Amino acid sequence: MRIETAAARASHHIDPESGAILAPIQPSTTFERAPDGEYPSGYVYSRLGNPNRQQLEEIFATLEGGAACAAFSSGSSASAAVFQALANGDHVVAPNDCYHGTRALLRDVFARWGLQATFTDVIDPEQVRRAMRPNTRLVWVETPSNPMLRVTDIRRVAEIAHEAGALCVCDNTWATPMIQRPISLGADMVVHSTTKYISGHSDVMGGAVIAAQADDFFDRVRQAQTTGGATPSAFDCWLTLRGIRTLHLRMRAHCENARALASSLSEHPRVQAVHYPGLAMHDERAIASAQMSDFGGMLSFQVEGGREQAMEVAANLRLFTRATSLGGTESLIEHRASVEGPDTRTPDNLLRVSVGIENIDDLIADMAQALT
Ligand SMILES: Cc1ncc(COP(=O)(O)O)c(C=O)c1O
Repeated sequence: MRIETAAARASHHIDPESGAILAPIQPSTTFERAPDGEYPSGYVYSRLGNPNRQQLEEIFATLEGGAACAAFSSGSSASAAVFQALANGDHVVAPNDCYHGTRALLRDVFARWGLQATFTDVIDPEQVRRAMRPNTRLVWVETPSNPMLRVTDIRRVAEIAHEAGALCVCDNTWATPMIQRPISLGADMVVHSTTKYISGHSDVMGGAVIAAQADDFFDRVRQAQTTGGATPSAFDCWLTLRGIRTLHLRMRAHCENARALASSLSEHPRVQAVHYPGLAMHDERAIASAQMSDFGGMLSFQVEGGREQAMEVAANLRLFTRATSLGGTESLIEHRASVEGPDTRTPDNLLRVSVGIENIDDLIADMAQALT
C-alpha cells in the first residue's frame, strides 16, 4: 500500500454494530480486568496505552517506515524522551541551529542530569566527525533547519554516527514523511512535533518518536512515555489521525505555494535573501533534491535593512498572521530573532513564513503590498 493510501485510511474502521466507518474516540482511562486477572483487550490504564493512541502509533510507524512508534503530548516531550533514554555521561552531537527548544532541553535541562552536548554545524560532515567523542551515543539532525532552511545530508551523518557506534535521530517535523523519510536514509529514529503539519490545523499539540527497530533503546523511550506520562489524550490522538488523512494533499499544496512565494520574493528589490531549498541558488539544493521528494512549506527571507524594517513588513501584512508555530492551513509569519532570546543566531532582518494553503495569488499580492 502506498503512503497516500495508508494516510487517507488512518483510523478507518468498520464498527460491527453500527456500521460506522471510523474508529470512535475512547476516553475511558481504565479497562476491565477479566475474572482470571487477564486483560483480554490488551489495555489496562490509558497512560500505558489506549485504542486511539495505538491507532496513531501504528499508522505513524507505517508512514515513516519504522518498526514502532511512541506518541507524546508535544514534540518537546517526544525529544525529551529520546534524551531520557540515554545515560548519565553520554554525549550528544546536535546542530547549532536546531529548534531552540531542543537546544534548551540539552543545554538547560539534561545537562543538569549529566548528559553532555556539543552543538556544531551538522550540515558539514567534517564538523560532525570532529565533534564525536568516545562517549557519543547520539547525533541529532534537523532538516530542513529552523529558521535558515539549511539541509543536512541524512545518509552521510547517519554513516558517521554509526561508524562511531552512535545513533542518528532526525527531527522530521518540517518535511513530514510525505516528502522525506529519514529511516530509509539510515536514521535510527525520527522525532516529530505533530502539532505542525501532521495534525495540520493549528488545533492540537502532540509529538512522536518512530524507531527503525523496536530495540532496547526504543524500549527506554517507551518507558519514558508510559512512566513519565507525557501522553496525548484520546481526543488529541483522534484529531491527529484526522489530520493524517489529508496530510499528502496538504503537503502538496504547502509545497506548491511555498515554491511560488519563494520565487516571487527572490525577485523583489527589498528582499536581501530568500532561504528555501527549492530555489536553484540554495546552497544544499542538490542534497535536498536527492533526499526530499519536494521542498516543504517553510521559507524564510531577509528584508533589506534591519529588525525595524523586518517588523514593519510583518506589521503591514493582512493575510499572513503574525504568530509562532507552523504547518497549519493558514499562513503565519514570525520575526524569529525576537522569540529565540538573547543567544539567537538568527539575523535580525529575517522573517520566517509558514506558507499556508490559501490561494497563492492572494498570498503573493499581500506580500507585495507589505513590502512596498
Ligand atoms: C522542528 C521542531 N521540533 C520540535 C518542536 C517542538 O514541538 P512542540 O511545540 O510540539 O513541543 C518544534 C516547535 O516549533 C519544531 O519546530
